[in-house]
Amino acid sequence: MLNLNKVNFSINKNDDEINLIKDANINISESSFVAVVGPSGCGKTTLLRIIAGINAQSSGNIYWKGRDLSVNDFNPSELGFVPQFSIAYDQLTISESIKTAIKLRSKCTTKEEINNILDKVISQTGLKEISERQVKVLSGGQMRRLSLAIELVTEPQLLLCDEVTSGLDPKSEHEIVSLMHSLSRNSDRVVVNVTHSLNHLELYDTIIVLYEGYVVYQGSPSKLTHYFSVNSAEEIYPTLTNRKDIDWHISWLKHREKYITDSEVNDKEYKSPNNTLPPSALNQFLALTIRRWKIFSRDKMQILLHLGMLLLFPILVAIFGLDGIDQPKTMPNQTNANVIDQLNYKISVSKSHMEIGSLISGLVMFQVILLTLMASNNSAREIAGEREIFEKEKFSGLSVSSYILSKVAFLSVLVLLQSLWMGIFVQICVPSLPGDIVTRLIILILVNASMTSICLGISASMKSPEQSSLLAIYLVGFQLPLSGAILSLPQWISPITQPLISAYWAWSGSLDLMKGEYFGQSIDAVTKQTNVQSLNICIVWLFLHLIFGLFLTYTGSKKPQI
Ligand SMILES: Nc1ncnc2c1ncn2[C@@H]1O[C@H](COP(=O)(O)OP(=O)(O)OP(=O)(O)O)[C@@H](O)[C@H]1O
Ligand SMILES: [Mg+2]
Repeated sequence: MLNLNKVNFSINKNDDEINLIKDANINISESSFVAVVGPSGCGKTTLLRIIAGINAQSSGNIYWKGRDLSVNDFNPSELGFVPQFSIAYDQLTISESIKTAIKLRSKCTTKEEINNILDKVISQTGLKEISERQVKVLSGGQMRRLSLAIELVTEPQLLLCDEVTSGLDPKSEHEIVSLMHSLSRNSDRVVVNVTHSLNHLELYDTIIVLYEGYVVYQGSPSKLTHYFSVNSAEEIYPTLTNRKDIDWHISWLKHREKYITDSEVNDKEYKSPNNTLPPSALNQFLALTIRRWKIFSRDKMQILLHLGMLLLFPILVAIFGLDGIDQPKTMPNQTNANVIDQLNYKISVSKSHMEIGSLISGLVMFQVILLTLMASNNSAREIAGEREIFEKEKFSGLSVSSYILSKVAFLSVLVLLQSLWMGIFVQICVPSLPGDIVTRLIILILVNASMTSICLGISASMKSPEQSSLLAIYLVGFQLPLSGAILSLPQWISPITQPLISAYWAWSGSLDLMKGEYFGQSIDAVTKQTNVQSLNICIVWLFLHLIFGLFLTYTGSKKPQI
């Protein structure tokens, strides 16, 4: 049913080719429960990843039901891959986690269909009693059951499990091994469990021993101790070190016929892939969006942080404008005053322009900078913080576009709330702030959206949430100095940096809008050193930033990050 024929896998490290899997020949028949054992670092996980198609073998062939997988790969629903460390969202319950997996992986549309699958996998994995328990309070053994349950929603014919019993107490280990054993007896399923534990070997049909990338035994557990000439399985690992890996391999090639069971034969007959269809992109999008809101609504710290920013930041801005914005002084058309008085008046007029211009420019910049800070908080960890789960779901058939769209839908709500409330609250507190309010709100939405989108792109491209938050915070930190709005930049620097700074375009566009009848001279007074671009150009640049962020998000999400 599953056949590996002379499979090799090598990687290049510092121009050296390192062989991690060497000449592996493996034959596994249907309804088998298989253990892949071997000392740490011998290549067990690597072998599993090659079978799953996560890593492509360097040479050799892998057949599944006679089908060459390099020609016709697994349909995601045919394969379940349970990783070494259980991954699920802490805030969801067991049944919610499984329900989302069903919606993301199978084409079930009615509630009844979903509940039928849910009931089935929950009872198969023994999770019925605790199905409403949140993931964060589950024990190690219960977490492993949940991981298995999630993989079972598409009833895969091949279930690959990587160290799902590691770190468990002996009782839980026995329960999980027994569970996997019973799963292998359902619908001709093959269950391959990678483990370095040599307990409960009698429950398996076949044991594969790997040593330094070589298969050095494949056969029934009862013949294992005989082959290695030891009294108990525990003695196998120390015994392996007595000979070179290649010697063990050659010895195995010599004796394998005596140990391989008759049923483990190559079945080359081609069978078409399991036709369980994946759900539509729209259904995946809906399932992910609902899950995102559920997780958000249960994360009290996140809600408090967002609320704090949403309510406090506009107050911080408004405080600076509470005294209102005076109308700037103008020079009288005709005056009888003497030259000194005229000069003094001129100075006081330009001082008033300077003060008013500075206040308007400062208020606008403060609003924009605080929105960029909210933007980085919105999305800097959004993808990086759940990368492992995302990679797992991508592997199981999740469409990257549905995933990104669900992020856009979730973040758009935050962006709209933050920008509108910032603009409207400041307008209520400082009604004399010039410029059309609708256009100003659009600029605020655009600057928040573009920074949120760029930080989402960073989050999709970084390996860890820490890296991604740090980079996003640097980006926000550089917005103010590199915008040239407060301290003018050297002339040769501004054309290089300003195009990259979203805050500059939002500030510049807002000031251009505000240059009305009264405030033109005041704004000119504070922007002598820094070029203010026209509103339309600024809006185009903010759109470009938004699109660049989405592009970065797409390419970063597509690229495997494991
Ligand atoms: N991308 C990689 N680059 C360099 N070395 C790698 C890479 N992936 C795996 N290895 C090396 O390949 C060997 C096999 O790794 P693998 O993770 O398959 O071992 P394992 O048998 O699963 O070990 P464990 O029981 O500790 O999980 C190890 O020596 C590991 O360091
Ligand atoms: Mg491993």
